[in-house]
Amino acid sequence: MPIAPPSQPRRRSLMPAERPEDRPEDQIIAACRAMNASGLNQGMSGNISLRQGDGLLITPTSLDYDRMQPEDIVRLDAEGRPQGRRRPSSEWRFHYDILRQRPDVAAVVHAHPIHATAIALHGRPIPAVHYMVAIAGGPEIRCAPYARFGTQALSDAALAALDGRMACLLAHHGLIALGRDLDQALWLAHEVETLARMYLASLAMGEPPRLPDAEIAGVRAAMQGYAQV
Ligand code: 13P
Repeated sequence: MPIAPPSQPRRRSLMPAERPEDRPEDQIIAACRAMNASGLNQGMSGNISLRQGDGLLITPTSLDYDRMQPEDIVRLDAEGRPQGRRRPSSEWRFHYDILRQRPDVAAVVHAHPIHATAIALHGRPIPAVHYMVAIAGGPEIRCAPYARFGTQALSDAALAALDGRMACLLAHHGLIALGRDLDQALWLAHEVETLARMYLASLAMGEPPRLPDAEIAGVRAAMQGYAQV
C-alpha cells in the first residue's frame, strides 16, 4: 500500500471512538457534538442526517446538542413522513432530497462555520486556489443562491450546487457536506472550512491565482489511489 506524503489528504476522524452499543442515533448525536466542539458550528445551528433503510434519521429542530437524546432523533420514511416525538430539522427537505437523489451518499452535514459562511455571505464559491478544493469533486466549491431556510427552493438550489460534488456553500447561510458515512461528511465539512479560512487569509494580498481545471482533474485522479475521497 503506498504511503501518502504528508501534504496529501488523509482522514483524521473528528468523531469519538464508536462503542459496540452505539446505535445510529448515538452516532448522529456524537457527530453533532463533535461539530460544535471542533468550532465547525455553534449553538443550535446546523443539522445532520443519516440514511437508514428506505428512509433517514435526522436531528430534531431547535434542540441543544448537549441535551439531545437518541429518542429525540426523528425518522423520515421513504415518503418523507416524520416518525418520533420531535419535529424534524427545518432543513429536512434538503436532507431528504439529497439522500433520495444521491445513492453515493449516506450522510449529510449542514453547519454554519465562520469562514465558509463568510464567503457564502458574498454569494461566492471557493475557487481552485488550493489543490485540496478537488476533494469536493471539482474545480470550485459552488455557492448555491440564497433561498429561505427550510424551503423547497433552498433544497433545489442546494441539489443543483451539489451536482457532481460532495460539498457546497449556501449563500447568506452556511455549508453542506456529504459523505458515505458521518465521519466522512464531518471530515469534509472541516476541510471546506479550512479551505475557506486559507482563501480568506490569502485575500489580504489580493486575489490569489487559480489552479487550472485540468490540474484539479489531475489531482482528483491522483487522489483516487489512496485518499478516501
Ligand atoms: P434546525 O434546528 O431546524 O435544524 O435549523 C438549524 C439550521 O441551521 C437551519 O438552517
